[in-house]
Amino acid sequence: MMKMNFKKLFCLVLTLGLLLSMAACGSTPQDTTEDASLPVSEEPAKPSEPASDTGTIPSEPEPAGKPEVQPSENTSAETETGSTRTLVIYFSRTGEQYTVGVIDKGNTAIVAEMIAEETGADLFEVLPVDDHYPMTYNELTDVAKQEQNDKARPAYAGELPDLSGYDTVFIGAPVWWGDWPMIMYTVFENSDFSGKKLVPFSTHEGSGLSGFDKKLASACPDAEVLKGLAVRGNDAQNRQDSVRETVQDWLSGLGY
Ligand SMILES: Cc1cc2nc3c(=O)[nH]c(=O)nc-3n(C[C@H](O)[C@H](O)[C@H](O)COP(=O)(O)O)c2cc1C
Repeated sequence: MMKMNFKKLFCLVLTLGLLLSMAACGSTPQDTTEDASLPVSEEPAKPSEPASDTGTIPSEPEPAGKPEVQPSENTSAETETGSTRTLVIYFSRTGEQYTVGVIDKGNTAIVAEMIAEETGADLFEVLPVDDHYPMTYNELTDVAKQEQNDKARPAYAGELPDLSGYDTVFIGAPVWWGDWPMIMYTVFENSDFSGKKLVPFSTHEGSGLSGFDKKLASACPDAEVLKGLAVRGNDAQNRQDSVRETVQDWLSGLGY
C-alpha cells in the first residue's frame, strides 16, 4: 500500500514537472519572434492614405531659395517715378509648357499682372495676329527655333497704347532659345521708346534674364534700360506668394 502510494506520488511529481516545463517552453516563440507583424494600429500608413492626422498629404519640399533676381549691367535707374504712368507689355503662352504641364494662364502673364497690380500700371498683351504657335511644347520649340533662324518678325494684333503717356515701360516675355521671342522684336522695332525707361523681365527654366536687358538696349538705343527681373516659370505658376515678394523687392529697388 505504502509502495503504491510512493509510486503514485512520484508519477504525480514527474507529470507536474513535465507539464510545467512544457508550459515554459510554449511561451518562448511568441516573445522572441523578430518578424512578427505589427499590431494593426501600428502599421505604417499606406501610400494612398494621409500620412498625418491632419488629413493632408505632405506637400513638396520648398525650393532652396526664392526666385532669383538678376541685375542687368545698367543699374542707373532713377528711383523717382512720381505720378508718371507705367505700362506693362508682355508676351506669354498657355498650353503645354516646360515643367508645368498644360497651363491656362501663361507664366509670364502671371508676373506681368503682379507688376501691374503693384505699380498701378496698364497692361498690354502681345498676341500674334494669326496664332500659329502650337499648344504642345515640342512643336512650339520647333516653330520658335525656325523663327529665330529666319530672324522672323511675326505680326502682333492691335496697336500698343499711345506711348507718349508713359514714362516707364516694363517689357516681359518667356526666354525662347536664349533670346526674346521674335515677336517681341517686332514690338521693339515698330515702337518709339526713345526717352522712356524700359524694364525687362523674363520667365524661364534655367536661363535667367538671358541677356534680355542688353538685347533690349541694342534694339531700343534711345531708351534707358533699367534693372531686370528673371523668374522661374514654375515658380510663377506654383509659388506665387514668394514670387510676389520678389517682385515687390525688385520694384522697391526701382523706386516703386
Ligand atoms: C520655344 C521655347 C523655348 C524655350 N527656351 C528656353 C531657354 O532657352 N531657356 C530657358 O530657361 N527656358 C526656355 N524655355 C522655357 C520657358 O522660358 C518657360 O517655360 C517660360 O516660363 C514660359 O513662359 P510663358 O508661359 O509665359 O510662355 C523655352 C520654352 C519654349 C516654349
